[in-house]
Amino acid sequence: MKISIIVGTRPEIIKMSPIIRECKMLNLNYFILHTGQHYSFNMDRIFFNELELPKPKYNLDVGSGSHAEQTSNILIGVEKILLKENPDIVLVEGDTNTVLAGALAATKLHIKIGHVEAGLRSYDRNMPEEINRILTDHCSDYLFAPTEKSKNNLIREDIPAEKIIVTGNTIVDAVFQNLQLADKKVDILGELGVKKLEYFLVTTHRQENVDDRIRFNGILTGLKNINSEYNIPVIYPIHPRSLKKMQEFNLNANGIKIIEPLDFLRFLQLEKNAKLVLTDSGGVQEETCILDTPCITLRDTTERPETLDVGSNILAGASPKNIVDCVSLMCNTKKVWDNPFGNGKTGETIIKILQEVIS
Ligand code: UD1
Ligand code: UDP
Repeated sequence: MKISIIVGTRPEIIKMSPIIRECKMLNLNYFILHTGQHYSFNMDRIFFNELELPKPKYNLDVGSGSHAEQTSNILIGVEKILLKENPDIVLVEGDTNTVLAGALAATKLHIKIGHVEAGLRSYDRNMPEEINRILTDHCSDYLFAPTEKSKNNLIREDIPAEKIIVTGNTIVDAVFQNLQLADKKVDILGELGVKKLEYFLVTTHRQENVDDRIRFNGILTGLKNINSEYNIPVIYPIHPRSLKKMQEFNLNANGIKIIEPLDFLRFLQLEKNAKLVLTDSGGVQEETCILDTPCITLRDTTERPETLDVGSNILAGASPKNIVDCVSLMCNTKKVWDNPFGNGKTGETIIKILQEVIS
């Protein structure tokens, strides 16, 4: 069995890392194809170095661009590599343009596709990620759904049940594999001069938030208000898209501590020890749930409803008042719930399944 593992962005590198480690440990025939959708050192290479992942065999260096430019460049590049390598299966993870283009290139070449983190739905087609999820799921052969809920989303779209396997989410593996390592290797609280439970952590980068001046300004105002009310630091490791938009819209971030995007170990440590986390990230909603840190999602919908069900997360949208109200609510919530995303062996499970079904 020859496996092609496609990655392109920060969350894909992190969430594929348990699968890559498993392939490496079992000495399987695999290669990593990086599309280069993310390319800045702290959005890309830092994770390969820190997680000790093998260097990608190919990097398409597609970089940034409009959706059509980026998706089509990935499609053309991936097709060439797949024709040359002829793998038995292509693995993609999540919902980015890299995932959609990788899956499209493979299906047209009649190469089997495994979609890791299949079946997530926000039911909001204004999000580019929602379109990517739906199309990728519908051309995949093995749909690795993290939960029963995500499996049921697929069944409702008439995807045959025999293609769907509930495996948990590889993010649990990544958190378990790296949390203790983080405590041994880094001290981000010391570096930033903050104390456990005495700061808020923020990430926001989604197109529907930061490319919209009113929504982005609403979020920043909400953050400034919680800084004044609680008088503790609000730390925001800023995604390059958001920094660019903040400058373009001339928005001010007084009262918010803006820092560079962090490596995974430092970020995990900050998440684990925060009073609470405010985010529009998908992965961060899951990680906070796994780490028993309350989360406020700066969106109107989520494709991670399991986090709402267990009570680790609440939707606040982008209005300053809602953000402040949700912070007050979540500060008084219980901080323990069951993690719905699996036992931390998802990478191993997925590889085991592939070994059984692909000769
Ligand atoms: C992409 C995904 C999003 C995911 C996010 C993870 C799509 C449609 N979106 O969004 O689902 O949550 O990755 O972080 O695939 N930039 C840099 N350096 C980089 C990468 C990006 O400076 O390494 C800047 C560029 O100005 C670029 C902008 O960020 O134009 C947006 O990058 P892009 O890859 O288009 O989308 P993301 O916002 O990163
Ligand atoms: N992350 C990180 N450093 C940061 C911010 C996030 O390592 O400064 C990690 C985080 O732990 C999670 C992943 O990046 O595993 C989430 O990526 P992102 O929010 O960019 O994408 P999304 O999950 O929304 O697709």
